[in-house]
Amino acid sequence: MTDFLVIGSGIAGLSFAIKAAKFGTVTVITKGNLLESNTAWAQGGISAVLPEGLRDPDDDCAKHIADTLDAGAGLCHEDAVRIIVGEGAETILELVTWGTEFDRDEHDEERYSLGKEGGHSERRILHAKDTTGREIATSLIETAKEHPNITLLEGHYAIDLITTGKLGSVTDDRILGAYVLETATGEVKTMESPRVILATGGCGKTYLYTTNPDSATGDGLAMSWRVGASIANMEFIQFHPTCFYNPAATGPEARSFLVSEAVRGEGAVLVNDEGHEFVNDHDPRGSLAPRDIVARAIDTEIKRTGASCVFLDVSPLGEHFAERFPFIHETLLSFGHNALEKPIPVVPAAHYQCGGVVTDLQGKTTIRGLYAVGEVACTGLHGANRLASNSLLEGNVMARRALAEIMRLYPPGKEVPPGPEIPEWESGNAAPPDELVNIYHAWDELRRTMQDYVSIVRTDNRLRRAAYRLKNLRREVKEFYWGHTVTPDILELRNLVATASIIIDSALLRKESRGSHHTLDYPEKEERFDQDTVLRRF
Ligand code: FAD
Ligand code: SIN
Repeated sequence: MTDFLVIGSGIAGLSFAIKAAKFGTVTVITKGNLLESNTAWAQGGISAVLPEGLRDPDDDCAKHIADTLDAGAGLCHEDAVRIIVGEGAETILELVTWGTEFDRDEHDEERYSLGKEGGHSERRILHAKDTTGREIATSLIETAKEHPNITLLEGHYAIDLITTGKLGSVTDDRILGAYVLETATGEVKTMESPRVILATGGCGKTYLYTTNPDSATGDGLAMSWRVGASIANMEFIQFHPTCFYNPAATGPEARSFLVSEAVRGEGAVLVNDEGHEFVNDHDPRGSLAPRDIVARAIDTEIKRTGASCVFLDVSPLGEHFAERFPFIHETLLSFGHNALEKPIPVVPAAHYQCGGVVTDLQGKTTIRGLYAVGEVACTGLHGANRLASNSLLEGNVMARRALAEIMRLYPPGKEVPPGPEIPEWESGNAAPPDELVNIYHAWDELRRTMQDYVSIVRTDNRLRRAAYRLKNLRREVKEFYWGHTVTPDILELRNLVATASIIIDSALLRKESRGSHHTLDYPEKEERFDQDTVLRRF
């Protein structure tokens, strides 16, 4: 038994753990190593309006709020936006206290260097060159390692949540813990805790082309779905406009290397192969319009011209490009592309889930004792399309708020009613009856289906085709793989299929176009859809 069971070691999970450790024992489990998270891959930075004197004199919270609402296309919850944006300065202070070093202004060491990204009207992005996520993740891991109350368990894969509801109670649905696979031994442990914090991140791997690392397989979302938590707005999958397009590479990975939006913030522009700044034809903000608009403009341009990609011209930055974005520059060089000599070929790729497990502004889900924080959660901050660099901010702010609420409702030491006895995990001993290679084929089929039919521009017909294919995959997972020896591959396939189905079902319900959900059948935004799409498994 642990006072707090935290699932995930990104900014959300570790921020929570470090703070909670003052009040009780914390066990953090993560399925890979501690640095395997979307957090560690973040490039552009973290948005925050700093106190007067440190921020851009033209900026204030009201502007950050207005930019977030605008990007969210009418679906943000204004209270969520006000609260999370309002706690930006506190977040930066906290991260700095934990050892994160953000870049300083080259002319004034007392101030931070502030960057800009799409949809932001002012410079307000704190960064550590172009590896901000790694800087934050490393400082959080080091801080967490030092705390005697925190146990960090790598290679521990949460399979399923355990709730009283799942064990048969109809009147008292609360969390009891989770079944966890220790990948090195194959043992499935029952980890008990009356306070479970889900911080499992997003689901980019439901698509063939994604900026996300392999860990982003929608596990937390699928686990929550299986225990009956409410899920919202999963039709809004954000595509990042600028991922390196590398036809010489064989695997999909090379096609999905992110070229940060901060590069456009410093002056780079998107052009077609004739050098025309085509995004200006779609939005007066051009290359710095919100992401959904830019990604759609690229999609339209590629379809119109038949080209494989568009180009990011970094020449307006000159040599500054290599200085300010050394990681991107060097990674591109390793792929054989020198951005100082030729514009970067780019395509959009799946990047972020704007929806997730429904929580209130204290991180509470619809199941007592189960909290969801970070990308896995839907607080209402992002609406139909997330504003750049608001995600790291949300992860830290919501961790702080979730802890405050837990300490109010169920602080460690306060007696919780005993739950029913938890049965041991039942796992068949036999290897899957089918050849293992078929699991990889199923993975591939799923990700291609999502890429082909549930991408930037949708139609009902395409969504229905995807739903049909997913139905078969769901049956296959159930019949061939589930109930046999569990392995991370089987678990991820099961979660990807569940998550993809939720994305498709949500998309089929929204008969309009808004933010990251665009369908040719209903091309306009409609007032009657000014509401979240909420799904729940009964
Ligand atoms: P994550 O950081 O993804 O952490 C999730 C953790 O959960 C991981 O440790 C994972 O291994 C673990 N996990 C998952 N499933 C299980 C399971 N079943 N059992 C155990 N552990 C599990 N946002 C910004 O604000 N600014 C940026 O500049 C920025 N740049 C980005 C660049 C890239 C390339 C990417 C991919 C994303 C970027 N984002 C950015 C988005 C942002 O990084 C993420 O939304 C954010 O880091 C999510 O944090 P998190 O803690 O919620 O999840
Ligand atoms: C980027 O650096 O372009 C990613 C920023 C984000 O996803 O917020």
